[in-house]
Amino acid sequence: MTQELSKFDRIIERYERSEESLLAILQDYQREFQYVPEEGMRRLSEVMGVPLSKLYAMATFYKALSLVPRGRHTIKVCTGTACHLKGAPQILETLERELRVKRNGTTEDGEFTLECVNCVGACAMAPVILVDEVYHGQNRPSKVMDIIKKQVGS
Ligand code: FES
Repeated sequence: MTQELSKFDRIIERYERSEESLLAILQDYQREFQYVPEEGMRRLSEVMGVPLSKLYAMATFYKALSLVPRGRHTIKVCTGTACHLKGAPQILETLERELRVKRNGTTEDGEFTLECVNCVGACAMAPVILVDEVYHGQNRPSKVMDIIKKQVGS
């Protein structure tokens, strides 16, 4: 058994062998590997006797799960109308440049995933970014990296 497989087994063993455990196991994969690896789903399908297609359907349905590796931290830039008018494009350009990553990408060191999202319902605070779901409003390109560093402590 490869090392990767035993990692999956260690997670699977924490749970009862029932369909109710599937989501919790996928969430543990996500926490441990920053995504849901295909090999992990294959192993889960074998052990639990559920079709792989069912696990894929779950991994694509739940927003907290990702089939591609994600950063330890997620930065979301709101690009809704209010934020766009108040400078979201400049915030996004700054982040792409400073983090050396394109939107919807993950930095090489696996630290950050950068995403664009539609209105997050805080237009009065525009332009808004979310760092691991924490809202930060009234951003300026010159300050945005400081805000992120302060929150994630790097
Ligand atoms: S447009 Fe950004 S919070 Fe509404």
